[in-house]
Amino acid sequence: MSHPANPNILILGGTSEANALARALADRGLNATYSYAGRVETPRPQPLPTRIGGFGGVEGLCAHIRDNAVTHVIDATHPFAAQMSRNAVAACAQTATALAALARPEWQERAGDRWQRVADIADAVGALAGPAKRVFLAVGRLHLDAFAAQPQHRYLLRLVDEPGYLPLPDADVVVARGPFSLEDDIALMARHEIELLISKNAGGSGARAKIDAARVLGLPVLMIDRPVLPARTECATPDQVLDWLAHSGVNLGV
Ligand SMILES: NC(=O)c1ccc[n+]([C@@H]2O[C@H](COP(=O)([O-])OP(=O)(O)OC[C@H]3O[C@@H](n4cnc5c(N)ncnc54)[C@H](OP(=O)(O)O)[C@@H]3O)[C@@H](O)[C@H]2O)c1
Repeated sequence: MSHPANPNILILGGTSEANALARALADRGLNATYSYAGRVETPRPQPLPTRIGGFGGVEGLCAHIRDNAVTHVIDATHPFAAQMSRNAVAACAQTATALAALARPEWQERAGDRWQRVADIADAVGALAGPAKRVFLAVGRLHLDAFAAQPQHRYLLRLVDEPGYLPLPDADVVVARGPFSLEDDIALMARHEIELLISKNAGGSGARAKIDAARVLGLPVLMIDRPVLPARTECATPDQVLDWLAHSGVNLGV
């Protein structure tokens, strides 16, 4: 059950939107914890108490909510972190805990864009059949294995941490953490003579530059649609999350 008079907010994080929300809650002195999955070596420090690592499925998240008397969960994970988002819906239902998602809008195709939309990673891999190309594979480290089925391409990868083993025989790796600028992404893609960009439809501004760079360079984009998630309350901005908290009885102070 929620206890609005004494809120204890759990942010499921790992995105720049979650970081902005953490700042907004910290600025108001609200009692909140930021949760990271622990996928990168040095996660950004947060202005809130931080915990790192999986909860142990729905059951583990239910236990965490109960053990810590969490009153509100805000799922601010990446739109492709579908397992965490599904677990949050299930655990909050089971524990009668208030849940809202901070979900950034999808990117929309604009004039000059050359997108081919595919449903998921598997379809993106299928669409890569054919002669070798220079491909900017901007899908993050977690999904690289699937692309081993199309080893003929020369891949450009941009990763947060230096990878150990790579499943792709012909790959250039750039280690960098966003947000990225349009100018830099145009230069990167031109330098590597990229012919095709593969991107998840993440939305938001931090990873947007590569999409705009592809348009400027006239390059095609294989755009992977978002996974479908269960119905939940969705907020588009940290301010909307604050409104939602206020409506559920949380005193936001000044
Ligand atoms: N997927 C992407 O493209 C992407 C891009 C940028 C950032 N991220 C961030 O990276 C993290 C992992 O993403 P993913 O795609 O691997 O997620 P996922 O497939 O939905 O999650 C797999 C498991 O990782 C744990 N987990 C995920 N997010 C967590 C969080 N914020 N706090 C604690 N545990 C978490 C959960 O483990 P248990 O079942 O054990 O609880 C979850 O079941 C998320 O924080 C996400 O926001 C993802």
